[in-house]
Amino acid sequence: MKTPTKAVIPVAGLGTRFLPATKAMPKEMLPLVDKPVIQYVVEESVRSGLTDILFVTGRDKYALENHFDSAEALESRLEEKGDDEKLALVQNPTHLGNIHYVRQGGAKGLGHAVLASRSFTGGEPFAVLLGDDVIEESSHLLERMIEVFVETQSSVVALVEVPMTEIHKYGSVKPAGQNGDVVSVSDFVEKPKAEVAPSNYAVIGRYILRPEILDIIETLEPGAGGEIQLTDALAIAARNPETSGGVVGVLFSGERYDAGDKLEYLKATIQLATKRDDLGADLLTWMKHFIADK
Ligand code: UTP
Repeated sequence: MKTPTKAVIPVAGLGTRFLPATKAMPKEMLPLVDKPVIQYVVEESVRSGLTDILFVTGRDKYALENHFDSAEALESRLEEKGDDEKLALVQNPTHLGNIHYVRQGGAKGLGHAVLASRSFTGGEPFAVLLGDDVIEESSHLLERMIEVFVETQSSVVALVEVPMTEIHKYGSVKPAGQNGDVVSVSDFVEKPKAEVAPSNYAVIGRYILRPEILDIIETLEPGAGGEIQLTDALAIAARNPETSGGVVGVLFSGERYDAGDKLEYLKATIQLATKRDDLGADLLTWMKHFIADK
């Protein structure tokens, strides 16, 4: 199969964990320091060579579409003032890849959102990047996953090791062998209780999928939470490697944040701000005083 060049970014979820902030604003537009979460995700996609990008959107996601479109009035104002630095900040998102949109037609689950990409992906393998999952820039996770896809020709998921007490928040995989950072996967369970989880290897929001996965999703009934789950389709693919091409995991040990979770969002904001030349030193000094006073 050809090397993937297309990325699907589902952003149609309701973001209920972040209410009331997400009542009228997409959670993917929450800023991490001064850049919306979704821009980090799109930049990662483009950096990894996935320049054809499809957003699977829903109701009330106009702010997100506007962010990747030109803003004529603002741009002319900054041009008149000769403020090239701010002008570049406004224009940068417009030049990131070829962005396309499709509506999901109701937040019926991640599997359902991925299925909406069928005509865009057109029978090719493709990447899925969750619009609220931020991966540390220096980690090159997606590039590694593409490499593993090319080598194995199996669908690839990203895995992190989590404490068993946390596994109920994730999809968990049943490993069937491991070679370096590549794990063969024989089954998946979505959000299992610790007692029944097949391992503490948790699936995070990056996938390289063979096109057969879309046919599998089409056969699914709603699963956990009454939603069409991508994990359920991956489980069928992992159990039937002869027809689906199988599934492997890439074990990731770098930094990542689920920016749709309040605590993780705060950690991401602090981590990214402390790395900034313009903010890091002052923020760290303030944090040391703040902690010393607690
Ligand atoms: P989440 O499960 O984190 O999103 O999905 P959610 O449902 O919006 O969040 P909470 O739990 O209510 O706070 C991960 C990604 O998949 C998208 C979301 O927008 C998010 O970027 N998603 C989820 C869809 O596009 N459609 C869906 O039906 C569900």
